[in-house]
Amino acid sequence: MGEKTYFMIKPDGVARGLEKEILKRVEGRGLRVEEKKRIQVSVAQAAELYEPHLGKPFYPGLLKFITSGPVTACIISGDNAIASLRELMGATDPLVAAKGTIRGDLRETNVINEDGTIKNLVHGSDSPESAAREIPIFFK
Ligand code: RTP
Ligand code: MG
Repeated sequence: MGEKTYFMIKPDGVARGLEKEILKRVEGRGLRVEEKKRIQVSVAQAAELYEPHLGKPFYPGLLKFITSGPVTACIISGDNAIASLRELMGATDPLVAAKGTIRGDLRETNVINEDGTIKNLVHGSDSPESAAREIPIFFK
């Protein structure tokens, strides 16, 4: 089964109907969707998820964006799942994300919200420590 990671299709991805396309790419990479649910993230969950960014200028906008509409929360498993998924996601800024990545290929023309936050479609845990911290925020 390998490693487990927390993966989330953000409100922009859900609103644009990209869930199927994104999960097809995840599975195409040989990873497995262990759990999947459509949820509305609460402010408390958002604050916990993005606690490492507390105090940064984009933090308030980030909480607002991630709670602005439904998301698809997932647990993804597989060999090297954390790094593999991060590679598939592409760079944080979709404008510099490489071709072949989710953020690079599926970005919309305007990737910046009014308050400066980046609409980058997906979230994935960035380390084993993050995965262990993030999964229980959404899956009990
Ligand atoms: P994520 O946590 O969502 O998977 O994205 P990431 O690791 O690639 O990026 P991270 O540095 O963790 O930032 C978290 C999210 O905050 C927003 N952000 N905005 N305006 C800005 O300069 C800025 N920097 C980051 C993005 O939505 C990013 O995904
Ligand atoms: Mg991150």
